[in-house]
Amino acid sequence: MNKFDLRLARPYAPQQFAMLNELYRDVQREALRLRVNGEDVEILVPVHKTLLEVLREDMGLTGTKHGCELGECGTCTVLVDGRPQLSCLLLPIQLGRNEITTVEGLGGTAQLTPLQQAFAELGAAQCGYCTPAMLLAATSLLRQEPKPTRQTIREALAGNLCRCTGYVKIVEAVELAAERTRHG
Ligand code: FES
Ligand code: FES
Repeated sequence: MNKFDLRLARPYAPQQFAMLNELYRDVQREALRLRVNGEDVEILVPVHKTLLEVLREDMGLTGTKHGCELGECGTCTVLVDGRPQLSCLLLPIQLGRNEITTVEGLGGTAQLTPLQQAFAELGAAQCGYCTPAMLLAATSLLRQEPKPTRQTIREALAGNLCRCTGYVKIVEAVELAAERTRHG
């Protein structure tokens, strides 16, 4: 062990430093109870923080990605009561008891959902930055429309930008997952 390695000597993890900094900032905070991925979470948050920031910085749910923060790229998509919403445009204090689902609330590595399996098999994720949002938007679509047309899939995912795949593999993965789910 290198005794001059500050990373090893540091008493706090980076996330703890961020939390301490937040506590000492003079901002208005509110104690909230959020329902995230099926669990009730009590949390003290600055009222100005977006849902995206709270999920990533205060709850460690980094599957929800930071993109434009302007409501244009879709990469911060989560489900609120089953519908896709842009977490960069939502404040947690607006949400009350709404059910929030992030990509961590879908299947895990031990048991992928049919959509996750199809994305993996067809190479629908390349850099993967848009993938959590794509999975959530497609999950919402398939719950409402088990047999979507290609056009319906494209429309449902239209707000989610992908700079890698050209979208073809993503649409095919949604079709494959829909077919497998219908035939059980
Ligand atoms: S980060 Fe929310 S839409 Fe781009
Ligand atoms: S896979 Fe890279 S942005 Fe979509």
